[in-house]
Amino acid sequence: MSGKNLLLTPVTVGGKTLPNRLAVGAMECNDADSDGNPSKATYSRYEKYFEGGSGFISLEAITCQRESVSSLNQLCLTPANAKSLEKFVRHMKDINKDNAFIFQITHAGEISHPRLSKPVRVTKEPLFGYEHAALIGEDEINVIMDQFVEGAKIARDAGADGIDLKLCTGYLGSQILRPFNKDNWKYGGAWEKRRQYAFDLTERIVKEVADPNFIIGSKVTVYDGFPGGQGTAGPDTAVMDLSETIDLVKGLEERGASYIIETAGAPYHTEDLSKPSRSKPYLGYLHFYFQKILREALRPETKVIGTGYSLYRDGKQKTFRAVSPENNTLKFWGNKNIGDGIADIVSLGRQSLADASVPRKMAEGKEGEIKWCVGCDNCTVFLVSGEGGGCAVHNPALAEKLKTLKK
Ligand SMILES: Cc1cc2nc3c(=O)[nH]c(=O)nc-3n(C[C@H](O)[C@H](O)[C@H](O)COP(=O)(O)O)c2cc1C
Repeated sequence: MSGKNLLLTPVTVGGKTLPNRLAVGAMECNDADSDGNPSKATYSRYEKYFEGGSGFISLEAITCQRESVSSLNQLCLTPANAKSLEKFVRHMKDINKDNAFIFQITHAGEISHPRLSKPVRVTKEPLFGYEHAALIGEDEINVIMDQFVEGAKIARDAGADGIDLKLCTGYLGSQILRPFNKDNWKYGGAWEKRRQYAFDLTERIVKEVADPNFIIGSKVTVYDGFPGGQGTAGPDTAVMDLSETIDLVKGLEERGASYIIETAGAPYHTEDLSKPSRSKPYLGYLHFYFQKILREALRPETKVIGTGYSLYRDGKQKTFRAVSPENNTLKFWGNKNIGDGIADIVSLGRQSLADASVPRKMAEGKEGEIKWCVGCDNCTVFLVSGEGGGCAVHNPALAEKLKTLKK
């Protein structure tokens, strides 16, 4: 590939111009302290992200309450965490302030950890496997929405550049949006009711944060890949129908979203779709189509951030077939998709744990020094084991920890 590297060209999100089109994806690593505040390990991860120079940095899924959580040591965004988060953001911005630092606010709903917390569901008939989750309705959802709005205000006061209202990967926002949320209630049944959850919440956050410079957006599952999931034609079919997804992102844009992060699948249900694995790397190509669908639906000023790019690396992921390594690198696809108007920004999840300095090393002509993600997914092993973690391939201390864990 020759010519200008489009990944390193500036892009404007909300009111802020970012130096490049590479993003650090939201990557929960379960290493907060017992109060949900960033620990030494959290600081260490984010210092690397900020030193790496990405234009857009997602703070991993952070919960606005502690009753229903996906992991024990998840970061928390409650009034009790406000001071600690302010210190954390200030520290990171002292390293590098040229990026958009975006907090991904979340509630785990039915996928909350059953032993550590209280899983809750919004459908009388549980999604298969989630029979243990307690049924909640409008009253409880109203409380959760209040907590999200308060969380967004705490994030703004802590110095974050914006929030990502999580509407993806099987978490509560996704549980409400999916056709499987079929009972007739305020946010269930017809699409016009299901989508209203995301619309009401976005409107409330815009109004109550009341800061035109605060960037609002969402990570959205375009297609879940299981019956009744987001992007399906109904509660009992897996047939893809993206009309609701398209309507959703347009409605979010109308209400003030300045970016949408594309994703697909849900890690607990359709894992390989959500983060293409070494054994099925080609599922990453589906994400290009989903990004294109979003790009075509939205105004040019609303940026589309694509995910699922970690496996392309330097073209040396050998499990891809029918494509030459030189036409299958992160740089190749990032440039092609930005150039072809498919995505505006490329997000790196697992690659950011392996080495978050892709932008800096590319800019300095040191691509040969990038430590590439090998797609082993041991970062997920740490997470599902309830351990703090990261990349065991490029971090010797974590390699030792993984050995013990696997024993
Ligand atoms: C260990 C781990 C933690 C993750 N945590 C989050 C998260 O907090 N929020 C989120 O939206 N996605 C999360 N993801 C998904 C990634 O952000 C990303 O969408 C996915 O890994 C695909 O991108 P990649 O190919 O660059 O890794 C996580 C993935 C992994 C492997």
